[in-house]
Amino acid sequence: MSPLSITRTLPADATTAALRADVSQGLSRTPKQLPPKWFYDARGSELFEEITRLPDYYPTRAEREILLTRADQIAAATNARTLIELGSGSSDKTRHLIGALTGLHSYVPVDVSESALAAAGEALLADHPGLTVHALVADFQQGIELPDTPGPRLLAFLGGTLGNLVPEERAAFLRSVHALLSPGDALLLGTDLVKDEATLVAAYDDPQGVTAAFNKNVLHVINRELGGDFDPADFDHVALWNTEHEWIEMRLRARKELTVKIPDVDLAVTFDAGEELRTEVSAKFRKDGVRAELAAAGMELTNWWTDGAERFALSLSFRA
Ligand code: SAH
Ligand code: TRP
Repeated sequence: MSPLSITRTLPADATTAALRADVSQGLSRTPKQLPPKWFYDARGSELFEEITRLPDYYPTRAEREILLTRADQIAAATNARTLIELGSGSSDKTRHLIGALTGLHSYVPVDVSESALAAAGEALLADHPGLTVHALVADFQQGIELPDTPGPRLLAFLGGTLGNLVPEERAAFLRSVHALLSPGDALLLGTDLVKDEATLVAAYDDPQGVTAAFNKNVLHVINRELGGDFDPADFDHVALWNTEHEWIEMRLRARKELTVKIPDVDLAVTFDAGEELRTEVSAKFRKDGVRAELAAAGMELTNWWTDGAERFALSLSFRA
């Protein structure tokens, strides 16, 4: 058997069905809203990698710093033989962890982006030829089925992706993580931290316009997959800090009144001039909040590590 297998747990048409449902519901409600997973086609995954290299986008560098300094401690605390990673993307930072986990048998990256999984799997195997990589093309919010690999398991959820879920979704997601684990298995969670508004907004509104292009990519996805006629130039990228919810909100604001036709879902959507479509939230966390959300899902926080500038945190918790 090849050391790299890619399993699609979602048939391609199930993806389209889910996109259809999200688009017709999300664009018919007020305010208009779309779930963030549709950013990540091949182009979207590339744009996200570009975001991680922007000078103002600090989370990736901060999380990498923590992983570099703590990988040995994480390895000693977990003794993981299987590393599962949800929303793994390029798996680039994960390499520091894989290098430190000396008893590692299998790596199971899970992502909706098949192109990202394939590229990440090839690159990892070039460096770790003895590793078994079972990549899963799956939606981590829909319940996933893990391959039969040895424990203990360590499940990593990095990049602050937990913050892209709203609180009710986070609670359901963390309960599903608990259900995937056995007693003694661990969760390694990356969460971006609450900080001054200027730093936060700059991370999501770069002068180079990469984040704007990423945000608008969802319109290209709807055009291509559902025959829509969005003109991305009709929309402005908006990133703002919501102090009540302590999250960054990403929106697309119509520059003028316009109507978009999306034939595959039989929809003609009207935007008023200035009307906004919410495409994503990116919640920022505090230690007590993370501990409480984990505890509510049956996970006990044992370690909390930040980067030197205290911008980002990695936490380790165990299934009680
Ligand atoms: N972990 C990487 C990538 C973070 S970007 C890092 O830290 O840099 C978020 C990743 O999650 C993307 O690769 C995206 O394709 C994936 N993703 C987003 N929503 C998802 C979902 N519902 N199910 C599975 N993967 C998802
Ligand atoms: N998980 C990343 C974050 O919340 C995803 C992300 C970064 C993102 N930049 C973005 C999503 C811009 C949409 C738009 O930081």
